Amino acid sequence: YGSALHIALPQAPRAGQLLTLLIDYEAGEGPGVCWLSPEQTAGKQKPYMYTQGQAVLNRSFFPCFDTPSVKFTYSATVKVPEGFTAVMSATSWEKQKDNTFVFKMSQPIPSYLIALVVGDIVSADVGPRSRVWAEPCLIEAAKKEYDGVIEEFLLVGEKLFGPYVWGRYDILFMPPSFPFGGMENPCLTFVTPCLLAGDRSLVDVIIHEISHSWFGNLVTNATWGEFWLNEGFTMYAQRRISTEVYGLPYTCLEAATGRALLRQHMDATGEDHPLNKLRVVIEPGFCLFLGVNPDDTYNETPYEKGYCFVSYLAHLVGNQSKFDAFLQAYVNRFKFQSITADDTLGFFLEYFPELKEKGVDSIPGFEFDRWLNMPGWPPYLPDLSPGQQLMRPADELAELWAADGLNMEAIEAVDITGWRTYQLVYFLDQVLQRSPLPEGNVKRLSKMYPKMSTSQNAELRLRWCQIILKNNLEAEYSKVKDFLHSQGKQKYTLPLYRAMWGGSEATRALAMETFSATAPQLHVNVQNYVKKILGLGGAE
Ligand code: BES
Ligand code: ZN
Repeated sequence: YGSALHIALPQAPRAGQLLTLLIDYEAGEGPGVCWLSPEQTAGKQKPYMYTQGQAVLNRSFFPCFDTPSVKFTYSATVKVPEGFTAVMSATSWEKQKDNTFVFKMSQPIPSYLIALVVGDIVSADVGPRSRVWAEPCLIEAAKKEYDGVIEEFLLVGEKLFGPYVWGRYDILFMPPSFPFGGMENPCLTFVTPCLLAGDRSLVDVIIHEISHSWFGNLVTNATWGEFWLNEGFTMYAQRRISTEVYGLPYTCLEAATGRALLRQHMDATGEDHPLNKLRVVIEPGFCLFLGVNPDDTYNETPYEKGYCFVSYLAHLVGNQSKFDAFLQAYVNRFKFQSITADDTLGFFLEYFPELKEKGVDSIPGFEFDRWLNMPGWPPYLPDLSPGQQLMRPADELAELWAADGLNMEAIEAVDITGWRTYQLVYFLDQVLQRSPLPEGNVKRLSKMYPKMSTSQNAELRLRWCQIILKNNLEAEYSKVKDFLHSQGKQKYTLPLYRAMWGGSEATRALAMETFSATAPQLHVNVQNYVKKILGLGGAE
């Protein structure tokens, strides 16, 4: 992917000899460096540039060993035009004269974690080691969203997993087309502006990126074929922090929405799809459609099946504080290294010799080997029943709305005014699962709950748009279009295009029309995935 840089040395170096190479190069139109016009920013005044390295895009940003198995420190000097600020994923930075910024990352990191943004951005403190960065027009909202809440997550993370080694933890709100919910660039998480919901309801993304400070950024998957080591452990860590801060019922509810995403993903791809293994085979030449593109591993399997596997390990241990202690020992053992699942599981069995003796790695149906190498639904699911108190009312209400003759009396008796965002998300997922509903029901539902059908919260908008499409609610098609115009997150964009393409003539036309208007704003990877869905010859 890209091309190798071969360097002929004047003479063969001795083993252990220090070599300095000076490489003069220009970054072109590579996929790792995104150049945005003023119209593509929130403020619409000045251009903006950002880099996104994960998984294998940073090779178009700078020459590097672009594999997560190699770690290094870096420093950078960045000169930008007057009126712009540069920020990087670095442990220290200072502004010098001539609008020149000097950065240094003093801990070894893999290439995919180097990141740079240049734009009209400003910052505001939100905690003792945290500030938010955003375009001036968003900075108030950004500060309000997370003022005073970040430090608690960091402290709980440190209590559970050991010292936070990165110094600062800052958050940068990206332009609307940023393709991810969040990206764990060390010291400086990048997030979608969709998180600015006004009520902190999407803070799980921040807890997720903070969790990468230990799982992913300290202990790193050595190959993208074992991406679940980063994301599965991070999902587990995220939900541990969430449990400590928000309690078990709420965390189980959030995990249940994650499980619904895994269900949808496996239904869409087929359980037996090779990507539905935790360990996928990445073959050289994937760009020629011979093997798996590492970017394709960004699906629900490494996240939610990975979460189930880590939960299964915790279940084998049978005691939360013992498992927490294991996680901390694991981070300490492998920090600043890149490892494989064999290292992880080997360490697990070493740490719990009594489990090793019992042969827990080969219990029929639950073999570690099966977890890693067999596609399909997880053999073990953690118990989410502590979330029942929050889920049951939503389940029951969805059931009422799916009925043939609507029992309006029963429906009106359910008061949803106090429901939290994730309860509404869960409810909408239940409605979606039962869709298409009997004729007329969704129209009434839309009228009855403007809180859901006209919400500006991105997670609710996604579900509502999916419901619109699955129920052919033509009167509200414009909401799908508006949502896709307002942001470019991959996990929102692709499911909606898949739904439109799998629907009627009218939704296919809607897909084509929306894509031709928004394509230039989308990240090139997202563009290509959409093209693939629409049969326009993109590379999925
Ligand atoms: N590291 C990922 C984002 C990513 C994955 C970028 C693969 C490029 C390739 C990040 O930590 C992540 O998982 N983000 C999620 C957050 C969610 C699980 C809370 C997202 O963007 O949806
Ligand atoms: Zn992640």
